[in-house]
Amino acid sequence: MIMKKTSQYINEGRGILACPVCGESLRSNAKTIKCYNGHSFDIARQGYINLLLSNRKKSSDPGDSKDMIAARRRFLSTELYSPIVEAICDLIEEYILGNDEVELRFVEVGCGEGYYIGKLEDFLSQKHSPSMLYGIDISKHAILAAAKRYKHITFAVDNASKPSLLDKSVDVFLSIFAPFYVENSLKKLKSRGFIIQVVPTKNHLKELKQIIYEEAIVGNKTANNLELPSKIHLHKKNLIRETITLNKNSTIQDLFLMTPHYWRTKRDLKVQLEELDRMTVTLEVEVRLYAKAT
Ligand SMILES: C[S@@+](CC[C@H](N)C(=O)[O-])C[C@H]1O[C@@H](n2cnc3c(N)ncnc32)[C@H](O)[C@@H]1O
Repeated sequence: MIMKKTSQYINEGRGILACPVCGESLRSNAKTIKCYNGHSFDIARQGYINLLLSNRKKSSDPGDSKDMIAARRRFLSTELYSPIVEAICDLIEEYILGNDEVELRFVEVGCGEGYYIGKLEDFLSQKHSPSMLYGIDISKHAILAAAKRYKHITFAVDNASKPSLLDKSVDVFLSIFAPFYVENSLKKLKSRGFIIQVVPTKNHLKELKQIIYEEAIVGNKTANNLELPSKIHLHKKNLIRETITLNKNSTIQDLFLMTPHYWRTKRDLKVQLEELDRMTVTLEVEVRLYAKAT
C-alpha cells in the first residue's frame, strides 16, 4: 500500500481536519489550508499545519521543549520501548483491522516527535491496510521533528483538549504517555471507534524515581484511569512489564530528560545520574483499548 501525502487527502476533500475557528472542514492549496468561511492557516515548508489559536495556548511555547523532544527522539531510536509498539499493533490487529476495503483514520494526540504513529504507519503498510494517519501535539518543536521524519503522516500543532477534527471522523485515537480529553475526543470518534491509551503504572521507571526523589514515591501512585462516560467501555487491558538495560550514560540522561522528573530533580541528585554508565529499569505500562458503544 502506498500512503499518500497530507495535501493529497486534503485536496481530495477526504481530510478530517476542521477549522479551529468555525469547525468547517479544511481544504488546501499549495501553501495554505482554508475552510469554507475563509479562515486560513499556513502549511509549513515541512508539511505540518498550525491550528493552535493563540487563545488556546497557556504560554507562548506550550508543550514539550526542543530539548525534551530531541532527548525523546534519541531515546526512542534505541528501540528499548518497542514492546509498547508491539502491544499496540497486536491490539489493532486483533480488534480493529478486518475489512480491507475500509480506510481507517488513526489520530495520535500528544504524538511528540512521532515515534509511535511512525511505527504504526510501517505496521499498517505491512498489513496492506488502507489508512490515514494524523498526529497532533501542542508543542511546535514536537510537530516540526515529526513532520520532518514522517512525510506521509499529517501533523498539526493543536490542543488535544479541543482537537480541530471533524465530528465523528476518527476510527481510532491513540494517547501514549500523553494527556487525553475524553469528552471532546468522543465527539470526534466514529460510532464504532476505538481509543488506545498507554499509561505508566506506579512501577514504571521505579529505579530512576528511587534515585531522583529523596522520598520514594514508588507504590503510592495509581495509573490514571479515563473517567468513562457511558458511551465507551474498557474492552481490553494488557499489562506490559519488561526490564530494560540502559548501556550508556547518554541513554540514561535522555530517558531522564524526556520525563517530567527531570524538572523536579535537585541538582545534587542529577549529578548522581551523570555518573552512571549503566542502569537497569522497569518498563511497566498498561495498554488499554476502549470501544465506543454505537
Ligand atoms: C510524555 S510526551 C509523549 C509523547 C509521545 N506520545 C511519546 O510517547 O513519545 C507528552 C506529549 O503531549 C504533549 N501535550 C501536552 N499537553 C498537550 C495538549 N493539551 N494537547 C496536545 N498535546 C499535548 C506534549 O507536548 C508532549 O509531546
